[in-house]
Amino acid sequence: MDKKHIYILAIESSCDDTSIAILKNKKILSNIISSQIIHKNNGGVIPEIASRAHEKNIISVCKEALDVAKIDICDISAIAFTRGPGLIGSLLVGISFAKSLSLSLNIPLIDVNHIQAHVMAHFIETDNYSPPSFPFLCLTVSGGHTQIIKVKDYFNFEIIGTTIDDACGEAFDKIGKILGLEYPSGAIIDKLSKKGDPLKFNFTKPKTKNKYDYSFSGLKSNFIQFLDKNLLVDPNFVNEYLYDICASIQKTIIDILLDKLLLASKDLNIHSLAIAGGVSANSELRIYLKELETNKKISTFTLKNEFTTDNAGMIGIVGYFKYLKNDFCNLDITPNLSPRF
Ligand code: KG4
Ligand code: ZN
Repeated sequence: MDKKHIYILAIESSCDDTSIAILKNKKILSNIISSQIIHKNNGGVIPEIASRAHEKNIISVCKEALDVAKIDICDISAIAFTRGPGLIGSLLVGISFAKSLSLSLNIPLIDVNHIQAHVMAHFIETDNYSPPSFPFLCLTVSGGHTQIIKVKDYFNFEIIGTTIDDACGEAFDKIGKILGLEYPSGAIIDKLSKKGDPLKFNFTKPKTKNKYDYSFSGLKSNFIQFLDKNLLVDPNFVNEYLYDICASIQKTIIDILLDKLLLASKDLNIHSLAIAGGVSANSELRIYLKELETNKKISTFTLKNEFTTDNAGMIGIVGYFKYLKNDFCNLDITPNLSPRF
């Protein structure tokens, strides 16, 4: 084993995906994700069930990550893990596992903020690797968070705007649940929207006190009223118009997201715009973002799909940069549920 290189074993267990990755410096050698399909028909994640599933899966996911990477566990340089935010029981499984590895292998332990990791996924070295340069704005859109972040450096993040209620992934999931779709619904709505007319129906866009903040709870109420009204007239409305409904609500969400990102870009005079998090896998969002480049001043950055939703690769890249700074934590560390960095 070449001692010049840094090998990080990274653990992500903040919600319903048990994931372990092995990185060699900034490159991913393996990134195993075991998704808990048990939540599909529950309309959301049940925390108690999620933590039990992590406990059951974590050892086999770890073995697979080491096998795929073809790395002996004794050659790992440090263990990185998600400290939060996330579900407390789920986080505790990953943290305890990380501590036991660090202790038994006598190697450093590195705590990672989950949201920072979504952003830092842009620095995972892939083919045709061209990460954004600092400063850039990152629209971080997931099932739990919706933020515009000014990224000044690897470890210098400023939250410019945030959701004051639901996250936008949550909006996709709640709307999907109302439509009778499986959880999580974002990718399903994305797929169904391809066959629909995004201009067929109109939904109201929320107003917020801070011009860069988001709000999605009003959109959900607006959507329920819209369905109730139409179902009164036509009980078969959802079946007849499912594609158009999906395309229209998806376009509304994307417009809300990008309007504020563009406003922040103009006001702050930052024209490097990135997206990250589960919702950044959305194909229309990616197309609309790319179209912004017709304004020659703007450059945009998207992630490979596999690095958008929760995965340990993104935890590992933060682990790598913290390792370079000798930024390690002690074995008495506990979860941190705060979304702050
Ligand atoms: O980042 P992530 O895996 O988990 C959290 O940190 O929350 O994001 C999951 C969220 C879910 O709400 C899911 O519906 C949404 O990302 N999502 C999408 C798409 N793929 C996943 N939303 C819209 N379009 C997609 N293609
Ligand atoms: Zn996430």
